[in-house]
Amino acid sequence: MRPPLTVLGFESSCDDTAAAVVRLGDGAQILSNVVMGQEELHRAYGGVVPEIAARAHTEKLDLCVTEALDKAGLGLTDVDAIAVTSGPGLIGGVLAGVMCAKGLSAGSGKPLVGVNHLAGHALTPRLTHHMAYPYLMLLVSGGHCQFLIVRGPDDFLRLGGTIDDAPGEAFDKTARLLGLPQPGGPSVEKAAQSGVEKRVRFPRPLLDRPGCDLSFSGLKTALLRERDKLIAAQSGLHAQDLADLCAEFQGAVRDVLSEKTRRALEIYLKGRPEQPGLAVAGGVAANTVLRQALNRLCAEHGVAFVAPPLHLCTDNAAMIAYAGGELYQAGHRSDMTLSARPRWPLDRTAAPLVGSGKKGAKA
Ligand code: KG4
Ligand code: ZN
Repeated sequence: MRPPLTVLGFESSCDDTAAAVVRLGDGAQILSNVVMGQEELHRAYGGVVPEIAARAHTEKLDLCVTEALDKAGLGLTDVDAIAVTSGPGLIGGVLAGVMCAKGLSAGSGKPLVGVNHLAGHALTPRLTHHMAYPYLMLLVSGGHCQFLIVRGPDDFLRLGGTIDDAPGEAFDKTARLLGLPQPGGPSVEKAAQSGVEKRVRFPRPLLDRPGCDLSFSGLKTALLRERDKLIAAQSGLHAQDLADLCAEFQGAVRDVLSEKTRRALEIYLKGRPEQPGLAVAGGVAANTVLRQALNRLCAEHGVAFVAPPLHLCTDNAAMIAYAGGELYQAGHRSDMTLSARPRWPLDRTAAPLVGSGKKGAKA
């Protein structure tokens, strides 16, 4: 058995400044996990302002690190390695984290490991559920949407991803078009509970095409058209109209994601994994209707379904510390030449995805 490895992790690629301490040993243990969000700083602008985010990260990172070490009851000398998100994401924020981590590493002599933010999300099921390689991962958030076969801490095969908006982005835009509060996912889900699907009909984009790529931008156009039709016909929107529009929108996202997941599962299962599993991560994974559909799909295919707790599905530094720990154990080291990479696909062989997420560049 390997000796336990204690890793201090940093995350600052979007609008959450975070630091955490994770111990990898016989399983993994989160010793502390501090997240300082910036929601109120960006609220007035209707989205994340990169320059404001970068400044806030610079102000908060050292506070976050101090708090993470204090909560873990450790000092920097007790840490074996420092892991930092070095991409992809908003360049100013990533730079702030990389500079801070480099400074701490240079000052303390502790080894440094640069971590891909998406690898952090993709390895979370191992942190929370010790999920065995290889597993299928569906990343669904406000900035990302892709299917990955996760074969190792630095070994990912991308089966497909969104060619335009991420699903969370589509939920947020839908909420905006209907005058519902942000973030849109939870408010659309709530409104949909009293609505019925199919009163209006939205498309199920890209289902007519083979493969696992997805598209969500057409849904908001469909929503806008149906909303305006209703307004024109009855001089306004009733609560029931709102609920029905939300139900159909959510149903369309569920249908597209579950059909594409079914295709991704079929490809994954052809490799005959010993302990087959599907994991989801990202804010949209909180959606109950989607979770139920994926759960059903997994049951049909005899595949384990794992959805890590929400606070570990959304941006945090525990996932970065954990991924950094696995990479460290596999021999990865970064040095003072570590740079911030705004774009950094996990699967280096896959064609780049187009578009840019609401919260920064997609990988
Ligand atoms: O992973 P996340 O916290 O942040 C990044 O995108 O990095 O995801 C946030 C996204 C938002 O777009 C939000 O509307 C969506 O996740 N979301 C949901 C739900 N809760 C959050 N979407 C659908 N249903 C939900 N219950
Ligand atoms: Zn993320």
